[in-house]
Amino acid sequence: MNWLKARYGILVCLLLAACGPQPEQSAIQPAATGSAYQMMTEYLEPAADKIWDSAGAIITIEGEEDLQPTTDEGWAAVVHAATVVAEGGNLLMLKGYAADQGDWIEYAQGLTKAGLKARQAALDQDDEALFNAGGEIYNVCRACHNKYIVEAGVEAGVEAGVEANE
Ligand code: HEC
Repeated sequence: MNWLKARYGILVCLLLAACGPQPEQSAIQPAATGSAYQMMTEYLEPAADKIWDSAGAIITIEGEEDLQPTTDEGWAAVVHAATVVAEGGNLLMLKGYAADQGDWIEYAQGLTKAGLKARQAALDQDDEALFNAGGEIYNVCRACHNKYIVEAGVEAGVEAGVEANE
């Protein structure tokens, strides 16, 4: 009888140990799904374009044309695009995209901040605030490109198209 209790005791200890805190080893390490170039052209740019095409006005032959959405669905599409841009800042910090742990991270965080402003502006259906947030987003894109595309071009040789388009 006693040996049985003792053996159960050991078994319970083993089970408890199994349920206790686990070492961090098994934690999932998120990583980029493609190149930085893909991330830019297939994910960030289409979303940013949607924001830039939805605020302010353009001059056409017929006169000035407001770009802001005129329906709730139209604004919802801008909310979507702004959420993509805001989350894009987080994604740029993934292993595989992040060029370093310094300025790159700051630009990435700047993108999230500007994206969230655009999102709020779209939720408020505020054309002027969206225009300003769009400008902020643009400045972050440019700042990061000025630093990293030039440097990358010198260090590693950027794809011909990148420099041609700049
Ligand atoms: C944290 C840095 C960073 C931010 C922020 C960033 N980019 Fe980039 N972008 C890069 C790098 C680095 C490349 C070069 C990638 C390559 O070719 O390997 C690039 C390349 C590109 C390209 C392809 C090159 C070209 O000019 O055709 C586009 C388009 C682009 N980015 C759009 C954007 C847009 C739009 C934003 C802002 C919404 C943005 N990027 C924000 C780092 C950044």
